[in-house]
Amino acid sequence: MSALLQVRGLKVAYGHIQAVRGIDLELHEGQITTLVGANGAGKSTTLLALSGLVKKAAGQVTLGGQDLSRMAPHKIVASGVVQVAEGRATLTTLTVQENLELGAYTRQGRYNRAQELDAIYTLFPVLRERASGLAGNLSGGEQQMLAIGRALMAKPRVLLLDEPSMGLAPLVVQGIFRTLREINQAGLTIFLVEQNVRQALKIADRAYVIETGSIVLSGTGRELLVNPKVQEAYLGS
Ligand SMILES: Nc1ncnc2c1ncn2[C@@H]1O[C@H](COP(=O)(O)OP(=O)(O)OP(=O)(O)O)[C@@H](O)[C@H]1O
Ligand SMILES: [Mg+2]
Repeated sequence: MSALLQVRGLKVAYGHIQAVRGIDLELHEGQITTLVGANGAGKSTTLLALSGLVKKAAGQVTLGGQDLSRMAPHKIVASGVVQVAEGRATLTTLTVQENLELGAYTRQGRYNRAQELDAIYTLFPVLRERASGLAGNLSGGEQQMLAIGRALMAKPRVLLLDEPSMGLAPLVVQGIFRTLREINQAGLTIFLVEQNVRQALKIADRAYVIETGSIVLSGTGRELLVNPKVQEAYLGS
């Protein structure tokens, strides 16, 4: 089975700091792939490189055989690689619905706006209740749902998420992860970057561990959950 999104030899440097040191990743269609690691390991930098938001010192990124390596960020989004806004950065002075509609701005051609909004509201019923309210009045968990909903409005082929669990209470995190699995089961390919190693490995089909810019372990989520090195370094057991 060939990968939907393939990363080969990716390197990123900030001046003298080599944040990502030549990594290979494969995201398979319809799977959840996770990249886990500690603070400063290079997770966000990897995502930024996939989205074209930092310069690659080396390496290649392909989506279904199409080379995205030197593509501008907006073209990468239009090709189907869409990152959920970080830190729940929704536009707080716009309504929930306006935020969702903005997610579709890169779409070309016609689409059924009402039907697609309805699909998002079915996934996140609380957003339907708050549709005409300001995004700034949502709780942290609801803002994360809105950020995910907005990314889905771009009709991604691959959804990228940078620590969606950050700053959220455990029950809220469980809800977000349940929804990610639901979206995945509907067919979407997901790349999840997390410091919440246990939760991420639990829902991942395939997982990579990154340490100081290099991939040090990979396997199925289940394999890494029971791996003694992962348990000792990341799972506190
Ligand atoms: N804009 C920047 N300028 C200089 N160095 C940076 C910049 N962004 C990140 N770095 C450095 O690059 C390395 C990788 O950082 P990155 O943010 O990718 O890690 P991370 O795994 O996402 O960490 P966290 O879990 O804290 O989000 C770190 O050493 C970090 O200090
Ligand atoms: Mg980060």
